[in-house]
Amino acid sequence: MAADDPIIEVDNVTTAFDGHVIHRHLNLTVHRGEVLALIGGSGSGKTTLLRLLLGLEVPQSGTVKIFGHPLGRCAARDLERVRYRWGVLFQNGALFSALNVFDNIALPLRELKSVPADVIAPLVMLKLAQVGLKPDDALKRPAELSGGMVKRVSLARALILDPQLLFLDEPTAGLDPDSAKQFVKLLRKLRQELGLTVVMITHDVDTLFAVVDRVAVLADQHIIACGPLTQVARLPHPFVRNFFLGHLERCAEEDVKRFRLSLDDTSDDGGVPAVLREEQTAH
Ligand SMILES: Nc1ncnc2c1ncn2[C@@H]1O[C@H](COP(=O)(O)OP(=O)(O)OP(=O)(O)O)[C@@H](O)[C@H]1O
Ligand SMILES: [Mg+2]
Repeated sequence: MAADDPIIEVDNVTTAFDGHVIHRHLNLTVHRGEVLALIGGSGSGKTTLLRLLLGLEVPQSGTVKIFGHPLGRCAARDLERVRYRWGVLFQNGALFSALNVFDNIALPLRELKSVPADVIAPLVMLKLAQVGLKPDDALKRPAELSGGMVKRVSLARALILDPQLLFLDEPTAGLDPDSAKQFVKLLRKLRQELGLTVVMITHDVDTLFAVVDRVAVLADQHIIACGPLTQVARLPHPFVRNFFLGHLERCAEEDVKRFRLSLDDTSDDGGVPAVLREEQTAH
């Protein structure tokens, strides 16, 4: 695979559940190192598209290639190898409620079976710190975490195998504005440090402005447009108009740049979520 080959190629995919068509002749390409956002109305088929990319759903017709491997047509061993090259943050976090934070993050490492037990603990603690959580958080159960912390733990688990490709389904949904901003800053930092390719489903306009390179719009059963935010936001399509309502004046390229610079300028809190910062100052 050449360095500039696409990491993901979705070619002419049609998906249906019980005869109900979700995607019709859908095409999408994702390039190495980019952050691509997927937007679309509720029920338009964004999560289903993500599940197709993960090989968790099979299309009626068409092909999905990841790292050059056609899903569904490559050998089970090849697919296993490809799977270890991506990490996923599911829409609801999908943490195991019976496992504590440490064991949730360690799970993909343990599944590999080839990682020695004494290496697992330092790797997990490193990821915990990388997503801005404290060592003490390792022993908490998911029920004891705030929404922002659940997202961070899910992100740590998605990153534990050092993937090249990261899938995020609504990473900031359900967070208060401050936690959402902290999460987006964390993503920007990780992307710079790890050189990740990211595919992110989001309906949060601020997240788009803060971090994405291209936006793909899923509507009318296919990708109706895919390009830079500043261009896509001006599409005369009812969904796009509604989505960017009240935000068009921020869409000039220099305004987006200024917004991103302003995020870098704000004081560095080490990626610690707002809720923890308040706790720390209170003691
Ligand atoms: N396993 C399934 N069996 C039957 N129908 C399904 C299945 N998965 C998804 N669907 C249907 O496919 C459509 C698209 O669902 P999907 O979850 O992909 O939407 P979405 O764009 O992610 O929506 P949201 O923004 O609300 O998360 C919905 O009508 C849903 O009911
Ligand atoms: Mg969804």
